[in-house]
Amino acid sequence: ASSAPSASTASSPPADAAGSPVATTAEVPVGGGIVVPAFQLVLTQPSEGEFRAFSSICTHEGCPVTKVEDGVIVCPCHGSQFDIDTGERVAGPARDPLAGRSVSVQGEDISVG
Ligand code: FES
Repeated sequence: ASSAPSASTASSPPADAAGSPVATTAEVPVGGGIVVPAFQLVLTQPSEGEFRAFSSICTHEGCPVTKVEDGVIVCPCHGSQFDIDTGERVAGPARDPLAGRSVSVQGEDISVG
C-alpha cells in the first residue's frame, strides 16, 4: 500500500488560533487590550507582563465585541462590558463572563491554547 502522509501539512488556514502566534506583546497596551477579529479573540494586558485572552463573542446574544476601552471590553450591540483581567461582566445585559483562553508568551509572540 502507498503510504499516506500523516503529518499535518495543512495548507488551508486554521479555523482556530490554537497554537499559533496571534499577536505580539508590543501590540497589546498595558491596562488595555486589542480585539483580533480574525481569530475571534480579545487579548489584554491588565498589568505589565500579564496577558489574558478571551473569546470575542459576547455572552449576551453573540455579537463580536469590538473594542477595549477604559479597562473594559465593550460589546457594541447592547453595551455589555467585560473586565480585561477576568472577563467578568461589569455592565450591560450579558450575565456570563467572556470565555477565557489560556495564553502563552514566547519572546514577543502571544499564542493561545
Ligand atoms: Fe453583546 Fe448584547 S450581544 S450586549
